[in-house]
Amino acid sequence: MAFDIEMIKAVYAKYPERIAAARKTVGKPLTLAEKILYAHLWEGNATETYARGKSYVDFAPDRVAMQDATAQMALLQFMQAGKKKVAVPSTVHCDHLILAQKGAKQDLRDSLTASGEVFNFLESVSNKYGIGFWKPGAGIIHQVVIENYAFPGGMMIGTDSHTVNAGGLGMVAIGVGGADAVDVMAGMAWELKFPKLIGVKLTGKMNGWTSAKDVILKVAGILTVKGGTGCIVEYFGEGAKSLSATGKGTICNMGAEIGATTSTFGYDDSMARYLKSTGREDVALLADGIKEHLTGDDEVYSNPESYFDQVIEIDLSTLEPHINGPFTPDRATPVSQIRAEAEKNDWPTKVEWGLIGSCTNSSYEDLARASSIAQQAIDKKLKTKADFGINPGSEQVRFTADRDGLLRIFENLDATIFTNACGPCIGQWARTGADKQEKNTIVHSFNRNFSKRADGNPNTHAFVTSPEMVAAIAISGDLGFNPLTDTLLNEDGVEVKLDPPVGDELPEKGFAVEDNGYQEPALDGSGVEVIVNVDSKRLQLLEPFEPWNGHNITGAKLLIKAFGKCTTDHISMAGPWLRFRGHLDNISDNCLIGAVNAFNEQTNSVKSQLTGEYGPVPATARGYKAAGVPTIVVGDHNYGEGSSREHAAMEPRHLGVKAVLVKSFARIHETNLKKQGMLGLTFANEADYDKVKEDDTINFLDLDQFAPEKPLAIEFVHSDGSKDVILANHSYNDAQIGWFKAGSALNLIKTEQKK
Ligand code: F3S
Repeated sequence: MAFDIEMIKAVYAKYPERIAAARKTVGKPLTLAEKILYAHLWEGNATETYARGKSYVDFAPDRVAMQDATAQMALLQFMQAGKKKVAVPSTVHCDHLILAQKGAKQDLRDSLTASGEVFNFLESVSNKYGIGFWKPGAGIIHQVVIENYAFPGGMMIGTDSHTVNAGGLGMVAIGVGGADAVDVMAGMAWELKFPKLIGVKLTGKMNGWTSAKDVILKVAGILTVKGGTGCIVEYFGEGAKSLSATGKGTICNMGAEIGATTSTFGYDDSMARYLKSTGREDVALLADGIKEHLTGDDEVYSNPESYFDQVIEIDLSTLEPHINGPFTPDRATPVSQIRAEAEKNDWPTKVEWGLIGSCTNSSYEDLARASSIAQQAIDKKLKTKADFGINPGSEQVRFTADRDGLLRIFENLDATIFTNACGPCIGQWARTGADKQEKNTIVHSFNRNFSKRADGNPNTHAFVTSPEMVAAIAISGDLGFNPLTDTLLNEDGVEVKLDPPVGDELPEKGFAVEDNGYQEPALDGSGVEVIVNVDSKRLQLLEPFEPWNGHNITGAKLLIKAFGKCTTDHISMAGPWLRFRGHLDNISDNCLIGAVNAFNEQTNSVKSQLTGEYGPVPATARGYKAAGVPTIVVGDHNYGEGSSREHAAMEPRHLGVKAVLVKSFARIHETNLKKQGMLGLTFANEADYDKVKEDDTINFLDLDQFAPEKPLAIEFVHSDGSKDVILANHSYNDAQIGWFKAGSALNLIKTEQKK
């Protein structure tokens, strides 16, 4: 089971020749990111230098990973591609559709009842098409991937934005929409705009309360949620080598929160240690054999300004623990300033919950360090002021942490141990009282803290920090608590201070597990039947989207002009809606319900020009669609930030939206729109956003001449009869224009398949 050593051997066998060819072609020393990219060119050896941030390049990723919420749509699409088996090793991980409420055992049972139909579907499709299946409770996709599949110098894609986590083991791992996964699983090239490169030099060594999480919390503060867009972030320097592999994973994981395409680290001893500890000594030996190719060239790291588009330097010795939030992961506050910030901004300082887990921070080391703080609370007679919830990252981590007594420490503090799954991180947290929508504060070790994400309450102020800081703050019950300097009053009325966390990077006695939850697919799956009930509420076979009719889109109406942050959570909310991820029509009832209408500053209230009435976005869109009136969506900056879920593109497409016109896009969402046959456009002049009015009628003037690098002209006819013609830029190349014309990328694959 598990990883495919022959595949890794084949990848490494190509490395020396491919790197030599890339070096010759590029004509200068190479970064690690470039080495991995050039080693995975679809065409083989490099014959041209690609322009960063400009050239579209075809790659051949080594693996695909999918989580249960996105896998449904990815596999429904793959089933249409007409293939017998996946072309590269692929896995499905059941982690999102699992509740966090009463505790692991009961929650898992309840989730199997509630989502059994979907799990059975995923299991049978996996079995049929040769896909490895990780059952509910086996763990969170990215923790399972780094433990079992990630390998230095590899390239993978995954239908989840935190696929980037595998950069901790030296991969270029990229989050994509399901349609991209279908390309790779169908044996086709996968296209990506050659990324720009950001170098982060880490000097010094962490000490005290500082952890790997603080590196990325600091970077997020510097670069903001869109500062990494279109870039690979490469970490290097002595400080990088001093971090554990899973710590590196944490840093790469939250690269998604700065919009980075991915992040990565060069192969080093920490990775070799991790590979050996997780039963992959053979991979470590293979990597040792080509290690000069699995890190950037010396010249690059000694003179980074000449080779990276941007360089940031962080001294780990002086880095303070950070607490980021609320409502956005880039609002970075060093712990020494958090009390003042909280008072200034009127954030509630009473902490109600401390949550440890998520794909970002659920490794053995994370649990070990956090439990050392929990143990101190017991030893020093401190009473925990907030509730505690823990989601171990995988069954292997859980089993080992249980064996080593780490979970018992949390249980002694009355913590609830939830299933090895995403749980509260994806809104699957049945938090008592959340419906009252009271203003409150929680701290967690997750990556995202957008409004409503964890518990559906828009007034929950969620702060992101390291697991050990979560433990300390939850024990104190005070957001302003700084464990580096402050004391707490214990049960005996004595002032006590918490010592800095300690914890093994890897379990001293090695990892152990009885049943890791993996299920190998059938060797020949041709006889496996995949059942989708026609009246299922959860699953629906897909109908192909209509191809473009070759004419300009005219007479379109504005569905919504979104104002401010419009993430994929705003476009296609998670939480209770997760249950419809395999049913396009049903999930379309959440389309854009979280987006703020620029004209009335309300969510889910837009004007229909057919009736003059305000109503929910999905119902309004359905009204236009039924009347045969095309619609467009207008948005602000970094539209579609966040998750890789393609539902955020498919739902508007399904509801009759033809184009999304925004100030700027998040990368994955822009690609998802293109793949689903939508027009993803950006204002050539940002100020034109203000010209869009609620009652406009919209006409495309030259869509019939749609061509790469040629802006499109769009006419906005206002209700008083006046007009504005604005220019919209786009990044479509010839192939992508082909997707638009065919109605979707999948429609094109099917046509190819029939030839
Ligand atoms: Fe799951 Fe949250 Fe990660 S939803 S995959 S734990 S970001």
